[in-house]
Amino acid sequence: MTRGRTELGDVTVHNIKQLKRLNQVIFPVTYNDKFYKDLLEVCEHAKLAYFNDIVVGGVCCREFRTYGIRKLYIMTLGCLAPYRRLGIGTVMLEHVLKLCEQDGQYASIFLHVQVNNESAIGFYEKFGFKIVDRKENYYKRIEPADAFVLEKDLTTDGSGVSPGEEEVEEKSVAA
Ligand SMILES: CC(C)(COP(=O)(O)OP(=O)(O)OC[C@H]1O[C@@H](n2cnc3c(N)ncnc32)[C@H](O)[C@@H]1OP(=O)(O)O)[C@@H](O)C(=O)NCCC(=O)NCCS
Repeated sequence: MTRGRTELGDVTVHNIKQLKRLNQVIFPVTYNDKFYKDLLEVCEHAKLAYFNDIVVGGVCCREFRTYGIRKLYIMTLGCLAPYRRLGIGTVMLEHVLKLCEQDGQYASIFLHVQVNNESAIGFYEKFGFKIVDRKENYYKRIEPADAFVLEKDLTTDGSGVSPGEEEVEEKSVAA
């Protein structure tokens, strides 16, 4: 497929079922109805990705606080397989990185990936993310069950990455 026009659009109550359908196809993990209900209320940064006006992907992030430090957590970021390597993931990730830059207060941005997800690891490493931790049996119903934590430090003094801290999210902010 040749390169085309990629645009991002808001996730609303009217199109959230499109995001749900996309995620069902893209990810091996199923997100329940509560995830999508909360997403409309809690998720600060949710976008659908359109390639030549066709919806082909989506990204959803939320704030995460631990020991008073604010991080941004990428819950889902993906696009349909036939539309990969066209720069759509880059557009979504650059949007998220720009939000972090505008905010200016996030210590890092992080996510979990299945340990065999080489495409996602290659993708995130290109943007300066590093594998900082391995969570054994992170996934309950898929193999391999282990996840890598990929994290990108956003601080100027290198203090943004702190493996293991994501296990102690402050409950007031947890979704
Ligand atoms: C990871 C993912 C979002 C990348 O999206 P994409 O639109 O294909 O990415 P891009 O086209 O913007 O790729 C940008 C760069 O990332 C790297 N990259 C992307 N896919 C890669 C792969 N399969 N192997 C190695 N590097 C890869 C390349 O450097 C690529 O640049 P290039 O095409 O000029 O070589 C996509 O593979 C996907 O949706 N995967 C399933 C969902 C998922 O696992 N998400 C991650 C967990 S949130």
